[in-house]
Amino acid sequence: MRIIITGASSGLGEALALHYATSHNQLVLIARREDRLNSVADKCRSKGAEVETITADVNDFERMGEIGIGLCEKPIDRIILNAGVSVGHGGGVTPFEDFYRVFQTNFLSLHALLEPIIPKLIEQKSGEIVFISSLASLLTMPTSIAYSSSKRAVNAYAEGLHYQLKPYEITVMTIMPGFIDSEMTRKNRFKMPFLMNTESGIERITDAIERKKIRYAFPFRFALMIHIVSLFPQPLRDKIVNFINFKKGA
Ligand SMILES: NC(=O)c1ccc[n+]([C@@H]2O[C@H](COP(=O)([O-])OP(=O)(O)OC[C@H]3O[C@@H](n4cnc5c(N)ncnc54)[C@H](OP(=O)(O)O)[C@@H]3O)[C@@H](O)[C@H]2O)c1
Repeated sequence: MRIIITGASSGLGEALALHYATSHNQLVLIARREDRLNSVADKCRSKGAEVETITADVNDFERMGEIGIGLCEKPIDRIILNAGVSVGHGGGVTPFEDFYRVFQTNFLSLHALLEPIIPKLIEQKSGEIVFISSLASLLTMPTSIAYSSSKRAVNAYAEGLHYQLKPYEITVMTIMPGFIDSEMTRKNRFKMPFLMNTESGIERITDAIERKKIRYAFPFRFALMIHIVSLFPQPLRDKIVNFINFKKGA
């Protein structure tokens, strides 16, 4: 399989690359930190995979478009849109430049890369697009408005693509993980409920991809709690969010 992974230099992207690193797969790994990317690529090669690295900033939309065109020179079996950033502002107002950067990286960059790839997948009449969203897309805390909004935009985009591309046998998946140990979550200063280690997080993500789950939110108990809260009347939701926020020390 030819598998493209963005944000492959650390965390979930690195672990996904290592998971798919077998002699049957050709990997294309994209991220900014060249040294980290090369080290992941070397580990993948030592497991038998053929690996190409592309050092790029996903916020350079013009470059993403060019990379997308280049990637279409060969068949694409799976593309995992994983690159992402989070910012938290402890309940203060998010500076516009942070808000913009989060939307650029987590949302707008997806279409910059996919715009040339989607027609290629349609022509192939096959392929998988996997979005790494977040459980944060389902409940917006006052401390992570930009991050949650960007991931909710991802869900909306992925939902539309799913309906658009299903007739062409293209599978569009939205994965919504809870907290998983990574560079991103190691920066958090609050207790993260249901925190998973990277291995078990990756096991669930890759299993969901194999099962072609269109929407997959996990861990189950955390996802269920969020779904149930969303059914509550607003005054009760206010109380719950205030309580969680208080526990986070925000
Ligand atoms: N860990 C969690 O609990 C969790 C939960 C839900 C969803 N997620 C999502 O999972 C994805 C991966 O996050 P992670 O936890 O693995 O965090 P991470 O270790 O910080 O990894 C983020 C990856 O994104 C890349 N990236 C960030 N900005 C980029 C840019 N402008 N251009 C190119 N690449 C960029 C980074 O590479 P460079 O810095 O080298 O560019 C890195 O490889 C994110 O979309 C995150 O929102 C994570």
